[in-house]
Amino acid sequence: MNTNEAQPISIIIIGASGDLTQRKLIPALFHLYLKGRLPRHFNIIGLSRTPYPHDQFRAHLREGLTSNGSPQEWEAFAEHISYVAGNSQQPDAYTHLQAMLQEVEGGHSANRIYYFATAPDLFPIIAGHLGDAGMADERDGGWRRVVVEKPYGEDLHSARELDRVMHSAFREGQIYRIDHYLGKETAQNILFFRFANTIFEPVWNRNYIDSVHIAVEESVDIGRRGAYFDQAGILRDMFQNHLLQLLSLIAMEPPASFRADAVRNEKVKVLSAIPPIPLSQTFRAQYAGYRQAKGVADESQTATYAALKLSIDNWRWKGVPFYLSSGKALARRTSEIRILFQCPPHVIFEMPPFNPNQLTIIIQPDEGIHLQFEVKEPGSAQQTRSVDMEFHYKSYYGETPLPDAYERLLLDVIIGDASLFPRNDAIEVAWRLIDPIIAGWQHAPDAPPLISYEPGSTAPDGVSAFLGHACRCRPGGCQREEPDET
Ligand code: BG6
Repeated sequence: MNTNEAQPISIIIIGASGDLTQRKLIPALFHLYLKGRLPRHFNIIGLSRTPYPHDQFRAHLREGLTSNGSPQEWEAFAEHISYVAGNSQQPDAYTHLQAMLQEVEGGHSANRIYYFATAPDLFPIIAGHLGDAGMADERDGGWRRVVVEKPYGEDLHSARELDRVMHSAFREGQIYRIDHYLGKETAQNILFFRFANTIFEPVWNRNYIDSVHIAVEESVDIGRRGAYFDQAGILRDMFQNHLLQLLSLIAMEPPASFRADAVRNEKVKVLSAIPPIPLSQTFRAQYAGYRQAKGVADESQTATYAALKLSIDNWRWKGVPFYLSSGKALARRTSEIRILFQCPPHVIFEMPPFNPNQLTIIIQPDEGIHLQFEVKEPGSAQQTRSVDMEFHYKSYYGETPLPDAYERLLLDVIIGDASLFPRNDAIEVAWRLIDPIIAGWQHAPDAPPLISYEPGSTAPDGVSAFLGHACRCRPGGCQREEPDET
């Protein structure tokens, strides 16, 4: 669909004075503008409590830009940005918003995106007010779409309640629940890697794959987000959404087409095949100093690092362990999916143990794909060495950074393509898996201990043993080795 269509568009950001608007949404919209991918007539309206004159709001947004565009281009773009001060919990904010929309849209019918960039507890309130103000109504010929940031609910119950309120104002087809990991080029590439090639899919199953590890490590700590994070914890912040979404892309069956619902159906199916995760298959840790952060309780038991081991009970994956791990304040920032293959069924060489093949999909940074395999060590009689076949986006596409996830996702909302947005049933299945772990960690006698780790460490002590799936191939097959804790 052409985004440069005649119909004007208004993009309304609710919670506009926050970090997300400045760091992600406006830079993404500006890039789309520079690439000529926004409709010709567009308006961006910010709504927040902080009183800002338009100019000051624009200046604040400009500080969030890191690259791209000349000052003139920014000025031309910024002309389209206005601001309304108001409390999104109060009906009169929507009266002011309506007045501003009337002014910028000039009374003509326009498409509208309402972007919820507020604290999650406000989502149902905002949806309710938009509904009551008739702002979800499409009878004037313009569509209305709503984008909801994560977390979508804080457990299964609240996610369902949020859906109930959302659906009282909007149809399911109008709701775009954002998971920015799905907008990352490398995450999108998983389906292309699997289904645009013939050589990987035949081995993509329990007959050839030993284990899968999805690891998202962050070097940043929780920064100024203490109050949010202490309530959320790492499982709600990263696992219920990003990690389980990545897992669904790796493990789903091939959809019959690339249409939104075909893809979303397969994702839900595979997540539904994961049995409840016993507490014995969970690991949790907290970095030292976390409790001193603003907004964090003195005795907080909130995990800033977690690892889970789960299985997928279907024909493709039965018996293959999937490990998920993620944490804050670690030595490096990296998101990788490591697929470890089984050892050859019979080893004919007389040689020291060697590595099984491993395929690594690097989501970030230095995005790419590595395939590790064995070659004969030159000069030796019977010895191998692990080497890498590598693809890096940089080598093919140069140093220009890949488009930011928000750029792609906002464009998809504009063109009405929901493929990369989790559907409510996928969100519910994910909560069903995560809720019992969170509850168990709080109350169950068999909950794993909360391990402390130093900020900047490679991993918490003991996690390598938990994730101990390192395997070396020997004549008798794969032999698990004492994991290396470094
Ligand atoms: C967000 C989480 O959804 O994802 C943050 O709330 C986390 O805690 C962030 O830092 C990680 O995203 P990225 O794109 O930097 O890997």
